[in-house]
Amino acid sequence: MELQLAHALPDTFATASVPVLILIVALIIEWKMALALLLFLPLIALVMLVLSKWWRNMTAKYSRSLVAMSAGLMEFIATIPAIKAFSKEENRTAVLEEQMAEYQHWATRSIIIFTAPVGIMGILLESGLTAAIIIGALLLMSGQTGVEQFFMIIILGVAFCAALVKLAFIGATGITYKNSLQNINSILTEKPPALKPVSGQPDHYDLEFKNVYFSYQEDVPVLQNINLTLPQKSLTAIIGPSGSGKSTLAQLVMRFWLPQQGQISIGGYDIKKLPEEILAKLVSLVHQNVYLFNTTIAENIRLGKQGASDQAIIEVAKKARIDDFIQSLPMGYQTTVGERGGLLSGGQKQRISIARAILKDAPVIILDEATAAVDPYNEMLIHQAIQNLTKDKTVLVITHRISTVINADQIILLDHGKIDAQGTHQQLLATSQLYQELVQNQAYVEQWGLKGGAC
Ligand SMILES: Nc1ncnc2c1ncn2[C@@H]1O[C@H](COP(=O)(O)OP(=O)(O)O)[C@@H](O)[C@H]1O
Ligand SMILES: [Mg+2]
Repeated sequence: MELQLAHALPDTFATASVPVLILIVALIIEWKMALALLLFLPLIALVMLVLSKWWRNMTAKYSRSLVAMSAGLMEFIATIPAIKAFSKEENRTAVLEEQMAEYQHWATRSIIIFTAPVGIMGILLESGLTAAIIIGALLLMSGQTGVEQFFMIIILGVAFCAALVKLAFIGATGITYKNSLQNINSILTEKPPALKPVSGQPDHYDLEFKNVYFSYQEDVPVLQNINLTLPQKSLTAIIGPSGSGKSTLAQLVMRFWLPQQGQISIGGYDIKKLPEEILAKLVSLVHQNVYLFNTTIAENIRLGKQGASDQAIIEVAKKARIDDFIQSLPMGYQTTVGERGGLLSGGQKQRISIARAILKDAPVIILDEATAAVDPYNEMLIHQAIQNLTKDKTVLVITHRISTVINADQIILLDHGKIDAQGTHQQLLATSQLYQELVQNQAYVEQWGLKGGAC
């Protein structure tokens, strides 16, 4: 929109006033010649009306193909490692090339259709100018006008045509921008849910779910009838098959989504009624995918608490078992981590994100498969870091590892978005068949190794 707002808009006002002024002056100087300038104006209006409809359709297609190609290109770049690993290069390249060809097609067509109306308009306007010259010549010969008037009108006529062609050009680009504006508007007019925050904030940190129901798409429930209390200073583990809704449950606590029914509360306060900044202070989420910003390690940790001192940052890094590694870098805490933390390993990034969470010191901690993507050495360090993070907090651990949940105060077994069983490890072993299966499968996986000729 920048081009349109910065240039086309002021240009439109300037350009639109010029032909009107010229016409007034021309009418005063020699009205017969001036009217001849307008001879083809109705025809021009008709042509523009038809073409602009055509142009509108064309630019919509052009816009769509541009969006598709950009998305395709982004996806292609982001998935290059996977594409290489599975030798799908030709497939994926073909898809991208198709999108590019599509874009090229509509770009070329829209340029042709863009230049056509401007060209046609030029011809019709100049025909008007020609008519004015012919009429002027007749008037001159019959002595009804002077040479000065004749030449004045011709000069004014040229300026008149140029201004109108420019106006047509601006109008046509305006249609293109209308499409962009519609895309932007669809986001700007999206209404945030009307939440009415209350004053005050919790002084204890039990986390409670009451009859929570949530679905991403209508009639496809992801969580149903969730009733759950996580007492403060206790550890609750959620375990369950992939897709059973564990991560969704965690995200509801952060208010990434609002449940369609039921209520989630912290310390008796419905999270819907807590102001955004209070809720953000109450809950920390440590996720399997860590997002770091392309700035220094120190700044990435400081995100947990604005204005924290360097000393505080080193202290939490020690607790998160990442200080040794940071100190070993030539630039130490001033090392820039690269885009999305690309210069660090998964385990290192995870420990930096835990340091950030320790610094934030939120009373409710959610760990969503925090160690799923790391090697055993890193896993050990991360476990130590997590111990430091979760001391005396309301902790919700999402995991698929039985070993992590054995010591939890309570274990929730989630299946197809419903609580299938709830209790301690021993209780679940005694009562839940699904839990027994999970334990057996895990034991089997742990015994399984690369034996006999596999390497
Ligand atoms: N952003 C989303 N939009 C639509 N469906 C989603 C979204 N995130 C997850 N789902 C669906 O919700 C279900 C639960 O997903 P998730 O909570 O990630 O499960 P889990 O963490 O237990 O593996 C799955 O069927 C998944 O496909
Ligand atoms: Mg998950």
